[in-house]
Amino acid sequence: MSNKGNNGRNGSNGNHAVDSEPVLRIRDLRKTYMQGKIPVHALDGVSFDVKKGELLSIVGPSGSGKSTLLSMIGLLDRPTDGSVFIDDVEITKAKESEAPRIRREKIGFVFQHFNLLATLTAMENVDIAMRFTGTSKNRRKERAFELLTMVGLGDRVKHKPSELSGGQQQRVAIARALANEPAILLADEPTGAVDTKTREVIVDLLKGLSEKGQTIIVVTHDMDVARQTDRIITMRDGMIASDTGVKGNEGQGL
Ligand SMILES: Nc1ncnc2c1ncn2[C@@H]1O[C@H](COP(=O)(O)OP(=O)(O)O)[C@@H](O)[C@H]1O
Ligand SMILES: [Mg+2]
Repeated sequence: MSNKGNNGRNGSNGNHAVDSEPVLRIRDLRKTYMQGKIPVHALDGVSFDVKKGELLSIVGPSGSGKSTLLSMIGLLDRPTDGSVFIDDVEITKAKESEAPRIRREKIGFVFQHFNLLATLTAMENVDIAMRFTGTSKNRRKERAFELLTMVGLGDRVKHKPSELSGGQQQRVAIARALANEPAILLADEPTGAVDTKTREVIVDLLKGLSEKGQTIIVVTHDMDVARQTDRIITMRDGMIASDTGVKGNEGQGL
């Protein structure tokens, strides 16, 4: 099933996602965990497409499968059945030995608790993401500085995480996630650990990146965040309960 010509454009929030081949395609994705002898269908047949530059939020009650979905897209775990394609490559078929490279090249991760290395400066935290990519040391330094400047931290590059506010740490984490120009930025509750004012700074940053063509998927509990994105997918019991990007479904899940 193709979403072509049906890209959830919605004049009120200016969805600019380009009408091209999707960056991400998910087909009938299933993940069953065994809890003792009881199978838990964390994902129970999930299919959707995401276009380049789309800023998509995924919402839904606790236990509905949001984190499981992100871990399948980020190749942190494998599905029981179904497929994930990124840039037309079926990552769910990749050999285990190829998974780290695919993650490094295709995916940027942002977490609720930032997950920066405490002993490293902001610069070094971004630089380290580019190790093992064949990028020269000078080029890595240059790019880390560019990225930190872009997220508004050009004057904080030598600071360690403990010397930065929560919002600043999250911006370092976003810079780090972008270091290798990922096809998709995945963020699991990126505003879950910051105050409401900082939340807006983070959301504005994500919106700006999406306007420049970065594809972003945000899992959030916060409807004030979700409402600011181009499209909202609501999960329930491992399935998509609603998707504002599907025609005839606009406004659902709000
Ligand atoms: N590693 C695991 N082992 C067993 N069950 C799991 C595991 N991870 C998640 N689950 C179960 O899968 C369901 C979906 O979990 P999750 O994807 O974390 O939901 P959400 O992120 O929406 O809160 C839940 O019922 C959860 O208990
Ligand atoms: Mg979760």
